[in-house]
Amino acid sequence: MRLDRFIASQRGELSRSDVKELCRRGQVTVNGAAVKRSDVQIDENRDEICVRGEAVGYREHIYIMLNKPQGVVCATRDGLSKTVLELIPPELRRRGLFPAGRLDKDTEGFVLITDDGALAHKMLSPKSHVPKTYLVRTAYPVAEELVPAFAQGLTIDGGETCLPAELILTDDPFQCRLVIHEGKYHQVKRMFEACGNRVTSLKRISIGRLALDENLPLGGCLEILHKDVEKLLSC
Ligand code: URA
Repeated sequence: MRLDRFIASQRGELSRSDVKELCRRGQVTVNGAAVKRSDVQIDENRDEICVRGEAVGYREHIYIMLNKPQGVVCATRDGLSKTVLELIPPELRRRGLFPAGRLDKDTEGFVLITDDGALAHKMLSPKSHVPKTYLVRTAYPVAEELVPAFAQGLTIDGGETCLPAELILTDDPFQCRLVIHEGKYHQVKRMFEACGNRVTSLKRISIGRLALDENLPLGGCLEILHKDVEKLLSC
């Protein structure tokens, strides 16, 4: 379908000549890129069309990247603490939203908020092996010998065995990155405790091959573009 026809059909207040003018001013984007011509062809079922930054048209599901601050809980409701859903701005709210997976109250970073149960299930299933990457600060220096131990699969308290994980050391001995492929309760903290260390701060920086946007402030949200959704599931 032509872009101008599609926008005019979805936004009663905009005529096709209005759309032409908005395109000329760079205020219409297709999959994140400004388009100057209003007569280009788009796929209304796959492409993400925005006018002045606002998405146009019906999409079955919505996918939101939230940079969760500390002190907020990953729940749909909570009597005491602020929930991640309370951080979603009104224009992105819709019925059925939930956090796909949990970060602890004191963990920061990437939480996916969606209304797509099937995608969340795939993303969270240990069988899918979707990597989740964390930036970890520890109380004691991270020993090099831990790299092969994490790669083999650690046994944590209670005798639970973890899937192989990638521990990536940095120049700072108190900071490392950890990639895990499952989501046991308090997993990262328990992995370091099993090695005689302690996590002092934790931030999730990517899910699958989708990284947390570096420009997203704590507490900020952005809608994940259609073309990026599949990265949430890629290994
Ligand atoms: N592992 C933890 O210990 N806490 C989190 O919030 C996420 C992973």
